[in-house]
Amino acid sequence: MRVCVLGGDGYLGWPCSVYLSARGHQVLTLDSFIKREWEKKVGSEPLAVVKSLEHRIEAWRTLSGHDIAFRVVDIANEPEALCDALATFQPEAIVHFAEQCSAPYSMASRVHAVETQRNNVMGTLNLMFAVRETCPEAHLVKLGTMGEYGTPNIDIEEGWLEVDHKGRRDRVLYPKRPGSFYHLSKVHDSANLEFGCRIWGQRVTDLNQGVVYGHTIEELGDAPDLGTSFHYDATFGTAINRFVVQVVADVPLTVYGRGGQTRGYLNIRDTMRCIELALLFPAKRGEFRVFNQITENFSVNALAAKVARVGNAMGFRARIDHIPNPRVELEEHYYNPTYTALRDLGLEPHLLTDRAIEGMILHAVRHRHRINVDSILPKIGWA
Ligand SMILES: NC(=O)c1ccc[n+]([C@@H]2O[C@H](COP(=O)([O-])OP(=O)(O)OC[C@H]3O[C@@H](n4cnc5c(N)ncnc54)[C@H](O)[C@@H]3O)[C@@H](O)[C@H]2O)c1
Repeated sequence: MRVCVLGGDGYLGWPCSVYLSARGHQVLTLDSFIKREWEKKVGSEPLAVVKSLEHRIEAWRTLSGHDIAFRVVDIANEPEALCDALATFQPEAIVHFAEQCSAPYSMASRVHAVETQRNNVMGTLNLMFAVRETCPEAHLVKLGTMGEYGTPNIDIEEGWLEVDHKGRRDRVLYPKRPGSFYHLSKVHDSANLEFGCRIWGQRVTDLNQGVVYGHTIEELGDAPDLGTSFHYDATFGTAINRFVVQVVADVPLTVYGRGGQTRGYLNIRDTMRCIELALLFPAKRGEFRVFNQITENFSVNALAAKVARVGNAMGFRARIDHIPNPRVELEEHYYNPTYTALRDLGLEPHLLTDRAIEGMILHAVRHRHRINVDSILPKIGWA
């Protein structure tokens, strides 16, 4: 398949480009490298050095013999360059990772909120028009997030809800109650994409992905020339990465508030497989298909306890601290999402075993000299 990967310099876009090329697909990746600018702006550095995209593509070619083509394009600001890339490459599928992905970043100020929504919503809108003009049959696989749903007091369905209202029935987009301007940008994307399917017959799979963990995939191993990013700081890091690094840095694991906040998680290896499955079983023309891309749920308390237990078994002195929650969110709530569609297509989950946590802790040990403890505590508040 000819697959265009948008955001190929990122945490997920790079391994996805490699994973697909390793399976014989022809890959063109686009990135504007804007994430590297955002990192500098907020003083965030990935745990291990992430080599330039050119360097990693060359290293991958040398190792595997597989080529990944790439172009520097800002999809939010350069619609002509995006059209040109798609018209020339004629992708059968497009995997769209290229968005500002941090909730705290989007909550820092008006400027950050506007920048996030502008980048994400305009980028996706430009993409919809580019597909319509240059490759209308291409299947668009878009990364959304489970955070679009928020934490409703009813079961979360996969994108759509059957509603009985005053004696009449309809199928509507699941009502969303997201928790940041970043998550809202994804909700706006979903509404635009569903509209594109309805009026232009576009084919879209919206992957409402949970929090991804893991520092590598099989094809990348621990090769320093190939590695992807692993963020643990308060802006771009995730709770699980933060806990892993805190274990190694010998500082308390910081749980925000009461710690009952429950979310869906998945291993980075499963992210790759989910995308592959979405590509192999594409949405039909005019179909807006939504998959909830998670494999298990944890509260923040459960996650901290798991990481601390594995850390202690490895000889660290992990301890857990509750700090004031910088976010406005429910700290105890009902959470019951459905996530059967990807399993029905053949996903066999890699769960968060002690071994998986051990692997991340060992990654942090290898790069402990780069840990910046000052970047871990939250400085951006919601209220
Ligand atoms: N990592 C997770 O746990 C997670 C969870 C749920 C959803 N997601 C979503 O998955 C996608 C990828 O996440 P990630 O963690 O790899 O993020 P990332 O920030 O590491 O990668 C995104 C890449 O897109 C590029 N980009 C951003 N805006 C662009 C633009 N306008 N034009 C061209 N390139 C642009 C960035 O430079 C970066 O390299 C994002 O949409 C994110 O919201 C991620």
